[in-house]
Parts: sequence; structure tokens; C-alpha cells
Amino acid sequence: MKIRVLGSAAGGGFPQWNCNCRNCNGVRHKTIQAKPRTQSSIAVSSNNAQWVLFNASPDIRVQIESFPGLQPHNSIRGTGITAVILCDGQIDHTTGLLILRESPKPLDIYSTRMVYEDLTTGFPVFNMLEHFCGVNHHEIQHDGGGFSIPGIEDLIFYPHALKSKAPPYSPHRENPHPGDNIGVIIEQPSTGKRVYYSPGLGEIEPQVEAAMQNADCIMVDGTFWTDTEMVDAGVSHKTARSIGHLPQSGPGGMIETMDSLSKPRKILIHINNTNPILDEQSEQRKVLDEHGIEVAFDGLEIDV
Ligand code: MLT
Ligand code: MN
Ligand code: ZN
Repeated sequence: MKIRVLGSAAGGGFPQWNCNCRNCNGVRHKTIQAKPRTQSSIAVSSNNAQWVLFNASPDIRVQIESFPGLQPHNSIRGTGITAVILCDGQIDHTTGLLILRESPKPLDIYSTRMVYEDLTTGFPVFNMLEHFCGVNHHEIQHDGGGFSIPGIEDLIFYPHALKSKAPPYSPHRENPHPGDNIGVIIEQPSTGKRVYYSPGLGEIEPQVEAAMQNADCIMVDGTFWTDTEMVDAGVSHKTARSIGHLPQSGPGGMIETMDSLSKPRKILIHINNTNPILDEQSEQRKVLDEHGIEVAFDGLEIDV
């Protein structure tokens, strides 16, 4: 299967429009070695023709223009996007659905019940789309069972619930429910290969650890280096953990978990603009290199 990273930054992108932190200022004025990044999304295909979009970022228009696989080819209107799977209802993962409103047919969208509820109440994107292309919603379970998508051959998707947070606009932001966030194992039956995609992840629970151990490639939450990163940068009072993201460094951090895995290629994605790993010459980036951990960038293609 092929994975194309459309966007590798967390909410806000890199640089963020109003941010003057060391990284955002540095990438804007080219005083650090770093790549600008759009907001988090990947496309997955087994045949290079029909693609499943994981999350729809507000940057989707430029992401499509940067990747011919998703562009129209043989007809006056068209798309390489067959369906969309949502890992959560966050703004950075769902606002792009509004950009797809010119679709001539309802968008096939796969999400949990909780995400469906948020997207029909607190942020009623699905209701709004009824006035445009409409939504063909497919409810997905998060009990470990798998599902396939019509038109997508040779891929099975196994979602599981994650401990993280519902979006800030959600009627139940401070009252987490299973299904607010999911991680997804993507399996190609003909090759037996597996990718684990989990861009927003607050805790390494047993199902997360198992998914990581059995995957050939993991693409997981790379939002923050430390818990207090945004506080230390003076941009917010929120800690990583309070908004549902496990930091990379320190005891119990993502690096420690990744170190225990021998099989998969290890990639961090959904990177916040304050994260020092965005600076390719930083100490923190060196640490990742030493641990064999990669940092996703826009345009990265992975063959598994
Ligand atoms: C998150 O995952 O916590 C988001 O990136 C936050 C946001 O979109 O503002
Ligand atoms: Mn996000
Ligand atoms: Zn910044």
C-alpha cells in the first residue's frame, strides 16, 4: 500500500498565521532549517488510483493541488478521493469537508457515533453539507473489528478507541467518551502489511501498544516534545496532556514506547508549531535520529 502525507502539522499549521514563536518566526524568515507544513492528513491507496483520505484538513485545497493522485483526470469533474475516514472531530481534521462541498455526489464519510454527534451539533458540518453535496455517513465501531470500503480494494481498516479529548467545541469536551478519538490499523490482506495511524493519542493503552508492535509502519502523535511546551513558549496555558496529547520526551513519553518496538518504521505526525523537532538542527531532532524515529513532512510517500 502507499501512504501520501498531505499535511504533517497539528492544528494551526507551521507557521501558524499569528504565531511568532522561535519556530514560526524562524521558518518564516529562514533563520532555522525547517520545512513549512500544512495541517494533518494522509491519503492511503492500494492501487494508486482510489484513495482513502484520513481526516480533511482546512488546507485540503492546496494539499490536493500538490498531489496529482487526488486530482481529476478523465472527466470534467472528478477526484481520486473515494472516501474519508475521520479520526476525531477536531477543527484541523474536519474543516476541509466544507472545501469538498462542490462534490457532485454525497461524500462517503466514515466516523464513530461520537464524532457524528459532534459534527451534527457543536460543529454542524454535516448539517451544513446537506445544503451542498450531502453526506453519506457510515458509522464505524471501535471494538477492534474491521471494515472495508466499497471501491477500495485490498484494504481493511481496524479502528480502536483512544484516550484523548473531544474537540474544544464539543458539548462533552471535559467528559470523554470512547469514540471521540480513534487509532486505525490499516491492513492489506494480499501482502499482510499493516500501518498504524494515530495522530492524536493521549495514553499508551494495551490496544495501542499491540497495534504498534504488530505494524510495519506507525504514524503516531508527534504534537509536543514536552507537556509544558506551549506554556514555556508563552503561547498558551494549556499542557499537552490536558488537550489529549502524549509528549515525546521524558519517562512514559512516546519515545520510550517507540524504543520498545523492533518491527515498525517509526514516524511522528501532527506536529505542533512549537515543537523543537521541527528545527532540523535542534538537539531534540538529533535525539530522534539516534532513536531511529522520523518526522513526517508534507509530500512524504511511504510504500509498505
Ligand atoms: C489538537 O489535536 O489538539 C488540535 O490540533 C488542536 C486544534 O486544532 O486547535
Ligand atoms: Mn489536531
Ligand atoms: Zn509558533
